[in-house]
Amino acid sequence: MMRLDKFLADMGGGTRQEVKRIIRQGRVRVDETAVSKPEYKVDETSQRVTLDGREISYCRYEYYMLNKPAGVVSATEDACKTVIELIEGRKRKDLFPVGRLDKDTEGLLLITNDGGLAHRLLSPGRHVDKRYYARIRGIVTQEDRELFLKGVNIGTEEKQEWTKPGRLDILCADEEKGLSEICLTIQEGKYHQVKRMFLAVGKEVLYLRRESMGTLTLDRSLRPGEYRELTEEELESL
Ligand code: URA
Repeated sequence: MMRLDKFLADMGGGTRQEVKRIIRQGRVRVDETAVSKPEYKVDETSQRVTLDGREISYCRYEYYMLNKPAGVVSATEDACKTVIELIEGRKRKDLFPVGRLDKDTEGLLLITNDGGLAHRLLSPGRHVDKRYYARIRGIVTQEDRELFLKGVNIGTEEKQEWTKPGRLDILCADEEKGLSEICLTIQEGKYHQVKRMFLAVGKEVLYLRRESMGTLTLDRSLRPGEYRELTEEELESL
């Protein structure tokens, strides 16, 4: 059970003050009966709420898979455009991105308001695999592969910061152009981790895209900037 004004505010009906006014105007019905008290307790799981005759169903959690484009920030509020602003069909106002991708990074980003799920996916003890595709300036070698498998120092000599093992797959290397394409799977999410791992072996990430996170794989049909709701199967697998 919850207050009617909270029900409507959660579902994007306006601020708490605005929805109180709407309710007092008699525009809201619960199971066909007009209710004008904002504090009225409604059972969000079984009762039918309408505003101006339009049914509003309550959803506690929302889950979106976004193919993050370059140029937007992984935050809820910022002077620059945020990933949340890309979710136009959102009902809830309390959505946030699960983890961060750099402004220039593309790819899989889960957007939700389910704090429990986010905590489980991000907690270091869970060892959730994150797989990245990258284009690299430089020829990535078997030696880099072995170094990444052991862990590399992405800090300085004085202030060392070692990564946990990462699995590096070399997709192709163009000796003439001095460029490589790779996939890297890591379980951590240190600041600029992938870029700093390549810097540690004298190479530069030119383009970075996250391909998967745990059981969730970026939907190939989503172009950068596009999103969709998670399917039941994806949600269950998480
Ligand atoms: N590693 C990076 O360097 N950047 C990202 O956005 C994600 C992982």
